[in-house]
Amino acid sequence: MTTGVETTQIPDLTDPQTFAPGVPHEAFARLRETPGFHWQPTEIATANGGFWAVTRFADIVEIESNPALFASQPGGAWPSTNLSPDPAENPLYNNLMMMDPPRHSSVRRVAAAAFGPRIVKNFDPWVREIVVEVLERIERLDEFDYILEVAQIIPSFVVARVQGVPAADRQWIVDQTLAAFEAMQTADVNAVGEVLSRTFTYYREKLVPEKLRNPQSDMTSVLIHAAERGEITEAEAYDFLNLLQAAGFETTHTLIGQSMRMILESPEIAEKTFRGIQELGPDKVIDEFLRYITPAMFMSRTATQDTVVGGQPVRKNDLLNLYFTAANRDPAVFANPDEFDPWRTETASLAFGSGPHRCIGNALAKLELRILFEEMAKRDFRLRLNGAPQRGWSTFINQIRSLPVARVS
Ligand code: HEM
Repeated sequence: MTTGVETTQIPDLTDPQTFAPGVPHEAFARLRETPGFHWQPTEIATANGGFWAVTRFADIVEIESNPALFASQPGGAWPSTNLSPDPAENPLYNNLMMMDPPRHSSVRRVAAAAFGPRIVKNFDPWVREIVVEVLERIERLDEFDYILEVAQIIPSFVVARVQGVPAADRQWIVDQTLAAFEAMQTADVNAVGEVLSRTFTYYREKLVPEKLRNPQSDMTSVLIHAAERGEITEAEAYDFLNLLQAAGFETTHTLIGQSMRMILESPEIAEKTFRGIQELGPDKVIDEFLRYITPAMFMSRTATQDTVVGGQPVRKNDLLNLYFTAANRDPAVFANPDEFDPWRTETASLAFGSGPHRCIGNALAKLELRILFEEMAKRDFRLRLNGAPQRGWSTFINQIRSLPVARVS
């Protein structure tokens, strides 16, 4: 195997322990500087016994812009890969993230129509309601865990509302999301399966029949009526509902939790955040948190034929893991990339990916954090660290599991 970088110098990117102390940015910097890509061996969920670690910004943009050559269907996000081309043997066949054009384009069109920036702007009042409810509850607490009380709660309620889950069932669906997340933390595949099957039954027996009787503007109504018109299949509609729960929850939870950890741990970042919001408005500050944190550390693609990319010969069926977390600190694109600087003027980061699969929920994720910052400022809601933050256990998400805090005002 041709590889640009000696494997022994680079930690095992398949081992959650590698990410336990933090994102291995030094190792990624070495990989970025070395011509070609680094080959990470693994027998799990790969056709050719490993994957290429792609770390440079320009290479990732090139790969993501060419789905004919670098497909999502066999490998949207390792190790959730779809190695069988036979839909019957492919549990992820109907998952949007694992589709390629033209099928991807038609399912995405249905979903995107309900998610564009202009539509998401109208979500402001009800997202604010959720945020205010969360803040009012913790206003009574002197000490609490910011992850459990804030970072997990806001995105799970927001996704439930986007799905159109009635208020009476919302806590139940949120509990399922949290249970699935908990099971994923401990890699308990059976427990994840049980939760998914419970929520699937709920969609099929309760939510979907209700939306067929009484359609509204929520995602379930949009999807199920598109399925009735034959624009997408029923299986694609159900899998999209499931995907929303995973994609909209854990990433946004990470953004909300890690941004607060950074503010509380570093007076310099706290000062830049508050001054940045005043001088630039919240959006630029949030973009910089997204670049710096990069909640989803990578996505995957599979080469559909032998080719050369980024100076690296790649074989048909080779998996490529596109490390957004490394590309977002590529000095070829970002000056002083390790510095948190909301005033930077460079291009948008790859926190939401690029190309045809670029995150459909990006405007919503940013709206959630903007409203949270606004409502905390309105209430002069100040916190201090009250114990050691605890990271998660994932090679995929830059997770934070616990952030003990105490009220200062
Ligand atoms: C900070 C929060 C978020 C981050 C960092 C994030 C990141 C990403 C990334 C990296 C991708 C893959 C892009 C690619 O392959 O190039 C993606 C796709 C996706 N995201 Fe997000 N996401 C976030 C929030 C959300 C929210 C709130 C929702 C919806 C409620 C959402 C729904 C989706 C969906 C449906 C896709 C699949 C799009 C496709 O395959 O065409 N995401 N996201």
